[in-house]
Amino acid sequence: MEGKVELVHHEPLAQDVLDPFPEAWYVVAESRELACGELKERKWLGRSIVYWRDSNGDVCVADATCPHLGSYLGPSGGGKLKNGNLVCPFHGFEYDVSGKCVWARDVKPPRSARLKRFAVTETCGLIFAYFGRDTEKPRWQTPVFASDHSARAIRRMQFRAHPQTTSENSVDVNHLGHVHGYAQIEQLRETEVAGPFLFSSYSFTRNMLTFGLRSVKLKVDISIGVWGLGISSVEISSASGISIRQWVLSTPVDGELIDMWLIADIRDLPNWWWLKSVIRSVALKLASQLIARELKLDVLKDTVIWRKQNYRSRPAYSALDRDVSLYRRYCEQFYRQIVT
Ligand code: FES
Ligand SMILES: [Fe+2]
Repeated sequence: MEGKVELVHHEPLAQDVLDPFPEAWYVVAESRELACGELKERKWLGRSIVYWRDSNGDVCVADATCPHLGSYLGPSGGGKLKNGNLVCPFHGFEYDVSGKCVWARDVKPPRSARLKRFAVTETCGLIFAYFGRDTEKPRWQTPVFASDHSARAIRRMQFRAHPQTTSENSVDVNHLGHVHGYAQIEQLRETEVAGPFLFSSYSFTRNMLTFGLRSVKLKVDISIGVWGLGISSVEISSASGISIRQWVLSTPVDGELIDMWLIADIRDLPNWWWLKSVIRSVALKLASQLIARELKLDVLKDTVIWRKQNYRSRPAYSALDRDVSLYRRYCEQFYRQIVT
């Protein structure tokens, strides 16, 4: 019949996209940002969360929706803290850091009134929360590192990318020369998967800028730890005496954008002439800022690619992509436990 469009059954096109929120530990805040008795809110993995610290120092990270009649619990919606408990602005129910409703005005707190919480861990001055099928029972723990740095600098960025793609960078040796200009790249250790972790190690030569004073060519060894898709660490050392831990923390915001935190923790520094001319604590601070800046400049080069990159579930691998393919297989485990 003319003008009539007949609808026929069809299979949807197989979509080459990744779930935007893989199971992982993701950073929520710096420890120093969260004082006792302070309630905060943020957008995190496509939902709004609240987080606070009670007088014992315990931190709760929870969905910002009240289990009673769904009021918004963040400070911008009227949520408040009272004696370390979160008070809902609607009917005044109170929740402690375990998520339990401990007070409901004139009635007994309903047993089912529990906040949807995310397991929390605090290490090296950072607060992480776990996202998985059972958000209170993580499949693994975050790495426990000593807080042995003398200075720290952080850069925060937000851009379109996926945490799997950003972490893939660490094993994508092929791009290190082409995008970042590193030279003499050598693999020092076979890339290895251990459950939810992946380890790799390289050496290469790169230029480091010293605040425009002069460019220093450095040969560095790096050891990479991928601790799930929200946390990567890079231990950097060199014969000249550098000892640094970099953190790359990717956290999905809304299914499209990610928050990326780049952290430079400096343990030791070489005897560069300009460092000798300032007192050591100032030099360390200066150097941590410098390294964080370098890291940011490096990541900015990657973002040019990530902003427009499409995910290829069946890439045309080259002979240099063995670790990328290993990494992709490693990542599959993080999509089996998706929260709905
Ligand atoms: S909606 Fe929160 S106490 Fe009623
Ligand atoms: Fe890169």
